[in-house]
Amino acid sequence: MSSSSAAARVLPSTDAFQLSSEDFSFFQSAINEVAGIHLADSKIELVQSRLRSHVISLGYESFKDYRNHLKSVPSGHADWQDFINLLTTNKTDFFREAAHFQFLKEKVIPKWLAESSSSTFKVWCAASSSGEEPYTISMVLDSCLPKDKSYLVRATDIDTDILRKAQSGVYPRSKLAEIPTEYQRSFDLGTAEIKDWMRVKPHLKSKVTFSRYNLTGTNAPPDGDFDLVFCRNVLIYFTPATIESVMKKLYQATKPGGLLLIGHSESLQNIKTDWKAVKPSVYSKEEKK
Ligand SMILES: C[S@@+](CC[C@H](N)C(=O)[O-])C[C@H]1O[C@@H](n2cnc3c(N)ncnc32)[C@H](O)[C@@H]1O
Repeated sequence: MSSSSAAARVLPSTDAFQLSSEDFSFFQSAINEVAGIHLADSKIELVQSRLRSHVISLGYESFKDYRNHLKSVPSGHADWQDFINLLTTNKTDFFREAAHFQFLKEKVIPKWLAESSSSTFKVWCAASSSGEEPYTISMVLDSCLPKDKSYLVRATDIDTDILRKAQSGVYPRSKLAEIPTEYQRSFDLGTAEIKDWMRVKPHLKSKVTFSRYNLTGTNAPPDGDFDLVFCRNVLIYFTPATIESVMKKLYQATKPGGLLLIGHSESLQNIKTDWKAVKPSVYSKEEKK
């Protein structure tokens, strides 16, 4: 049923929009299958509130009708992508977990400049959300690389709505508060009716590309031979078995001697992986012998 015909009739009672445990089990295993996201049983209310207005706006009479619809369409269908977009959590900030950016500027880049003959430093930001993380990387690399060196940031996420937002490079001006003073010149500030907004400057934006990539899908990782991979604050949603397979993909996409950064509250302890711990939340791929 189309959303306009749904609007024209009386909406179903809210009782139909209580998530039954059967509905929840379906959505719980479905999001695990399509995005690797493990939702604990305690997340039933979260799932209900994230899906409810979407399901009503599509004109379904109940969560059960919506789940029957999802079952009837192939996994690549746009309705599955909407389902994924609604159940991902996109919390992020500019300069989140700032110690990593200091490490990048003070340790990683000086070492790369001393040891590598390459002209381009390559970064994969593997769960980039609304773009604050890859644009922070761009600001830091722009500030510390010499003129004869360049960089690129390949930003990926599974959520197509958040990728569109990231791609625009436009943020509320209140977000300047997250950004250290020396980097605040990285934005063009809006004036007049758009004075509450700011946009990442073109020379920083042009170094970042965004595309959809499911870390838990069957596709090979981006072919980049990356010097550095950020995969922060997404492993918390995965089971240890899923983390193991994600780690293989990140390892495959990284240059020997390259580094992986994970979130400060995440760990690869008890995960079978080739990554070698450098310090908490920092891992390296072995150099070729
Ligand atoms: C909490 S945000 C973290 C953003 C950023 N890395 C940071 O640390 O601020 C987690 C992101 O992971 C993405 N995500 C969840 N499952 C994913 C998957 N299977 N493949 C790729 N991205 C995924 C979500 O869409 C979301 O944007």
